[in-house]
Amino acid sequence: MKDLITLKNMDSTEYQRYLNNAIKNYAAEHVKAGNWSEEEAIDKATNEYNKLLPEGEKTPNHKLFTIHAEDKEVGMIWLGVRSEEKGFIYDFNIWEGNQGRGYGKQAMKEIEVVGKSLGLKSIRLHVFGHNEVAWNLYKKLGYIETDIVMEKNLEV
Ligand SMILES: CC(C)(COP(=O)(O)OP(=O)(O)OC[C@H]1O[C@@H](n2cnc3c(N)ncnc32)[C@H](O)[C@@H]1OP(=O)(O)O)[C@@H](O)C(=O)NCCC(=O)NCCS
Repeated sequence: MKDLITLKNMDSTEYQRYLNNAIKNYAAEHVKAGNWSEEEAIDKATNEYNKLLPEGEKTPNHKLFTIHAEDKEVGMIWLGVRSEEKGFIYDFNIWEGNQGRGYGKQAMKEIEVVGKSLGLKSIRLHVFGHNEVAWNLYKKLGYIETDIVMEKNLEV
């Protein structure tokens, strides 16, 4: 499979749509994890995104892309440059209904090309241990674990 997907710079409308959903999801995750109360969650999540992306999709050192395939948007990926030579994938999604068709793998390969063009020597990312599809994908593409957090539930 080649040229399955293209990455396009997010425009401001796409960014606002992405941001609204991302804030809601991020806030809900923190409420679920017991970190934040329902009342404060949206404000706290909004603050964190504003800190990371003060100029929205045009924030220097951050590249936010929509992923396109077959003339439609199938996902998004956000690469940030943390230092001159190290990148970090802050977010990556293939939207439901479009998963499992190879778009994610292609997008990850494409982001390497972007990273190299920016002069990056490495790209890091975070993945939850329970996210087997993503974890397997990253392993297959050559990502290695650099730091592992382990937990045992004592309540069962
Ligand atoms: C993780 C994610 C980005 C992968 O994108 P995708 O387009 O669905 O993945 P692909 O179709 O490119 O498949 C990648 C590999 O995973 C495998 N795979 C995909 N979906 C799978 C599933 N439901 N079960 C098992 N394997 C699966 C594919 O077979 C493929 O392996 P292969 O190269 O050996 O054939 C996408 O599923 C997603 O957005 N998930 C929700 C958000 C998320 O978890 N983001 C990542 C945060 S770290």
